[in-house]
Order: sequence, then C-alpha cells, then structure tokens
Amino acid sequence: HHDAVTHARQHPIQVVAHRGASEDAPEHTLAAYTKAIEDGADALECDVRLTADGHLVCVHDRRVNRTSNGRGAVSALELADLAALDFGSWKTRDAWKGRDEEPDWEHRPEDREATSVLTLERLLELVADAGRPVDLAVETKHPTRWAGQVEERLLTLLKRFGLDAPASPEESRIRVMSFSARSLHRVRAASPTLPTVHLTQFVTPRLRDGRLPPGVRIAGPSVRIVRNHPAHIERLKRAGHQVHVWTVNEPEDVDLCVGLGVDAIITNRPRAVLDQLGR
Ligand code: G3P
Ligand code: CA
Repeated sequence: HHDAVTHARQHPIQVVAHRGASEDAPEHTLAAYTKAIEDGADALECDVRLTADGHLVCVHDRRVNRTSNGRGAVSALELADLAALDFGSWKTRDAWKGRDEEPDWEHRPEDREATSVLTLERLLELVADAGRPVDLAVETKHPTRWAGQVEERLLTLLKRFGLDAPASPEESRIRVMSFSARSLHRVRAASPTLPTVHLTQFVTPRLRDGRLPPGVRIAGPSVRIVRNHPAHIERLKRAGHQVHVWTVNEPEDVDLCVGLGVDAIITNRPRAVLDQLGR
C-alpha cells in the first residue's frame, strides 16, 4: 500500500534492546541488560526516574507495582526502599503464560543483583565493562515534575563516566530520548553535542512536515506511525534526520523499517531482530 523507497543509510541499522532483552528477562534489570549485551545488541534503551532521595533508577512506570513485589511511586520511595524489592518475580509468572517453550532466562532470587532495582549508575558501569562498544539511549520520564532535576542528575552522572560532552554527536555513545521537547532542550543547553531523540506516539503536524523540534537530530516515531504513515518517515529521511523506531517486535515491521532506511530499531527481542538481519 506504499512505495518503500530505499534510502541510503550512513551506518548499519542499529539494534537497540528496549528495556534490555525484555521479552526474555524482566525489563530494566541487570539480567535483561546482561542478556542484551550477550545477544549482541548494538545499544540499550532505558527509562529513568528520580527517587525521593535523588537517585536515577531505571523504571518505566510511575509506580513500581507492575514490575516488582512492592507498591508505590518511584518519586515517593528512597533508593533503600527500592533496593529491598525484587524486580524479577513478576516476569517469571508472566513469561510462562501462553508460551510452549521454557523461557531461556530463569529467575534465581538468590542472585539478588540480577533482579534488584537498577540504578543508571550501575547500568553505565555495565556498559563500560561490556568489552565492546555498546550505546545507551536514556529516556527521561515525566521531567516536568522535577523541573530540570532529572536532566541535571543525568548530566552529572554522565560526567563521572566521561560521557557528558562528546566531541561530536556522531561520536557519542549516549543519546537522550524523551516525549518532552523541553527535557531535550535542557539536555542540549547543558551539553550541545549530546544527541537527542524526540519520541512521538502519534502523528503531529510537525512530523507530517518532516520537521523536528529545534536542535533535535533524531526522530523517534512509534512503529504504529511507521506502519500507517510510511511517507512521513520518508520525508524525515529526505530532510536528513535520523529515525529510531520503537517498539519493533514483529518480523514484518523489521522488514518495513529496513525498507524505509530507518537508522535504529528499538526492540524487546534483540536476538531475533539480529537473526532476521543476518547478523
Ligand atoms: O524507546 C522509546 C519507547 O520506549 C517509548 O515508549 O512507553 O516504552 O517508554 P515507552
Ligand atoms: Ca522507554
């Protein structure tokens, strides 16, 4: 139903592990990110939130209820409270549902670190120790609530790892993603060479025109936009933007992304996507 124009891509398509290898292992845990690195993912995606005592932790939802054995909002809990919780047991129950084969990740509560709350600091250590280059795409969640504190804390942490001020965006191993253009603006104001990704779930007038918020280099459309409006993606590519698509788990969507020349595929199943790409 559309003409898939194949666009020249400067780099091979990047396979990004969404919340880690989150189909197999519990999202945002060391277990999921370790598996993603073993699986050969080019990059890791994580969401970050501030705890009540100012630590950045990798949690998607506002509350910990879905992905841990605890309750409450991340912003109301201290790191020590979160450290007492297990972020793996829910996935064990979940992973068995509707699957014939056994999941190839097993929850071992005795391995506390594998499924305890993951700080961004610990994730940065994991990436540093990966033994090969692995990029990190950090998504700021609800940044308005904290009026800049998420970005400030993020930059401070990146600085500790020598990642806050890359010589150029192309050389950066880190990129910052957000649905909030304001959050991305704060990041660029602090560090102009850090690449930023503007996430969009639905088509906006701006996207329809092939434009991004000022200063943003990378578009982050949902796979739904790509399926329903491939022409918008072609327009973004023609305008010279990079396109990183989320969350691409179906083989036909991988094909579609490849045909459109997108730059990164963000997926819960990095190994399956790499297999499909012949890597
Ligand atoms: O990678 C972007 C994607 O993760 C945005 O949606 O809800 O999964 O954070 P969400
Ligand atoms: Ca995310």
